Amino acid sequence: MNSDQRNQGISASGLEDVVAAVTRLSDVDGNAGRLVIAGRPVEELAGKVPFEEASGMLLGRTVTRRALGEAREAAFEQLAELGDALTLPDAMDALRAATAHLSGADPVRIMAALAVFAAAWARQGSPVRPDPGASHAADYLRMATGRAASPAAASALEAYLVTVIDHGMNASTFAARVVASTASDTVSAVVAALGALKGKLHGGAPGPVLDMLDAIGEPERARAWIEAALARGERIMGMGHRVYRVRDPRAFVLERAIGTLDVSPRLRLARAVEAEAEAILAARHPDRPLKANVEFYTAVLLEAVGLPRTLFTPTFAVGRVAGWCAHVEEQRRVGRLIRPQSRYVDTSQTSGVA
Ligand code: COA
Repeated sequence: MNSDQRNQGISASGLEDVVAAVTRLSDVDGNAGRLVIAGRPVEELAGKVPFEEASGMLLGRTVTRRALGEAREAAFEQLAELGDALTLPDAMDALRAATAHLSGADPVRIMAALAVFAAAWARQGSPVRPDPGASHAADYLRMATGRAASPAAASALEAYLVTVIDHGMNASTFAARVVASTASDTVSAVVAALGALKGKLHGGAPGPVLDMLDAIGEPERARAWIEAALARGERIMGMGHRVYRVRDPRAFVLERAIGTLDVSPRLRLARAVEAEAEAILAARHPDRPLKANVEFYTAVLLEAVGLPRTLFTPTFAVGRVAGWCAHVEEQRRVGRLIRPQSRYVDTSQTSGVA
């Protein structure tokens, strides 16, 4: 690649590899399979550090359990002012519409609101009042399911929320930073990020992963099912990643967290499906390693803690929103508009347009 191409963001394979931001928040090494969040490997954070503390590490200030709990209470009082947002049938549409009602730039208020709004959507008109003294993870689970969370389920969910809290310049974070770079407000940036997260190529995969596990049912049926899906031109959800060329390190930490829950048959099935999918995809794409990504074991974990699959992507947002807000603040300090270039391809000569 020559310097002209680099300046235009063009690499040998097309348009990619542009450095969109300089960040201290997280680093993804796709070849080594290493994820560093706020200076610490994900393996040292997930399952070991509370979500509140991990959020504080990203935001550069202390986020206490009490502050986040009181912010959940404030968000609960706002439920009546959200119009019909939480009656929308799709959870991400509802969360996006509800979040758009927020104002202000306090990340703690926004983080609290996403958890309260997502849980209230799941309760369909009978929202559960927050407990300001509980951990964010345990309280979200209780508000969403209507039952007190077991300590094991709350810890597993907390490990999940920390695992997904930030991940380099992923699509939703990039969307948030682009909006922040225009000097727009934090809520607008978070709403844009929610829109990006909703898609099945980003945060929308775990529900379909579970559908796949249900359809396969038994480990012995995995190979035939996967081959038939690929023959229909479908992608195997939870496999492959834009950056990782090895197994996603978050799959390991989520598997570790699932190990504390009582779900052995499901985990055995998931491992068998992963192994078959990896082998079949390796045979089809020898030059492109396609291995399990974070969504694969997210599906197993979120199901095991008792969340309905319609809430999987909103739950991803409940964790990732801390990262979005930290990126928005970081981008604001940079104070420079993100404005990538496009490469114009003149088709007027070939398409018959005069
Ligand atoms: N199942 C089957 N084939 C896959 C695949 C998957 N999950 N992921 C990639 N491929 C294939 C593509 O079809 C393509 O094949 P081709 O060259 O014959 O056309 C090749 O691998 C390269 O794929 P490409 O589209 O360039 O990869 P990408 O970097 O754009 O895609 C993802 C990354 C994550 C979007 C992609 O792997 C995917 O769609 N995965 C499933 C959805 C998912 O789990 N999303 C959550 C991501 S965290």
